[in-house]
Amino acid sequence: MDSLKPKIAIIGAGNVGSTFAFSLMISGLAREIVLIDKNESLAIGECMDLNHGLSFAHSTKIYAAGYEGCENADIVVITAGANQKPDETRTDLINKNVAIFKDIVPAITKFTKDAILLVVTNPVDILTYVTLKLSGFPSNRVIGSGTVLDTARLKYMISDYAKVDPNNIHAYIIGEHGDTELPLWSNATIGGMDIETYCSEYAKLGNAKNDLKEIFQDVKDSAYKIIKLKGATNYSIALSLVKITRAIIRDENSILPVSTLINNYYGVSDVCISIPSIININGLEQYIRLDLSAEELELFIHSADTLKNFIKEIELE
Ligand code: LAC
Repeated sequence: MDSLKPKIAIIGAGNVGSTFAFSLMISGLAREIVLIDKNESLAIGECMDLNHGLSFAHSTKIYAAGYEGCENADIVVITAGANQKPDETRTDLINKNVAIFKDIVPAITKFTKDAILLVVTNPVDILTYVTLKLSGFPSNRVIGSGTVLDTARLKYMISDYAKVDPNNIHAYIIGEHGDTELPLWSNATIGGMDIETYCSEYAKLGNAKNDLKEIFQDVKDSAYKIIKLKGATNYSIALSLVKITRAIIRDENSILPVSTLINNYYGVSDVCISIPSIININGLEQYIRLDLSAEELELFIHSADTLKNFIKEIELE
């Protein structure tokens, strides 16, 4: 990585890709942003609109290109694919988006063998696994946005409930970015204190255990609700992507629940799933083996098995 002039290629100039490009431009993290989309007019139009705001942001080279734009990219972020429609699950998109990835991934690897591939398209865990297999890249350089967004939603909702700064909340959602995801209440804290104790003793909330269960359900339902209201989600996922790319570009060793290939994690192997992982200039440095309660372990294995069953149905040859 040329960390002095990081170059990020974004595949897909739709809602998520263009919002991520906008967020990235404002962050000043990238020196070069390339937007790649089969709809060239869309990519060119988005770049024109972004460039016209550059004097308000940071000096960044922003342009549309074909897949040759991936050449010398430090990170390639894949947002292209069919989007969830109201009442559609993320895994309903598998067949359509696996077919699209069979075109996209070889087109990317034709121009770069060294980039970190950051998968966003849903179902993100399945497509991270597909990208890993199709690219042949090492697993530290093929990661999915995973449950980084779900964890952010959880922190927001807990901060609103307990009236505390979200940065003082340490709580993860792990597993599938989808219907089988699970919250890690057993090691969730506020200000270093067990989350339920804090809510009861400091936030004076008498029914914390049940309220937290409802909060988790709201997290799981968030995307469905937003898609029903406005057609798609884009801002929070784009900011999640800025967080991940910043941890890479600035070599931050941030611990984030990204989707990654696991090997013998509580006996589970050969699936991409979200667990807290150390993210730095190398991509995914290593994932962390958290202590899970018996209930959390059961839910995690169910989530992993659900993803593995979908992967079994995919033909990658
Ligand atoms: C969501 C999409 C990114 O959860 O899956 O908003």
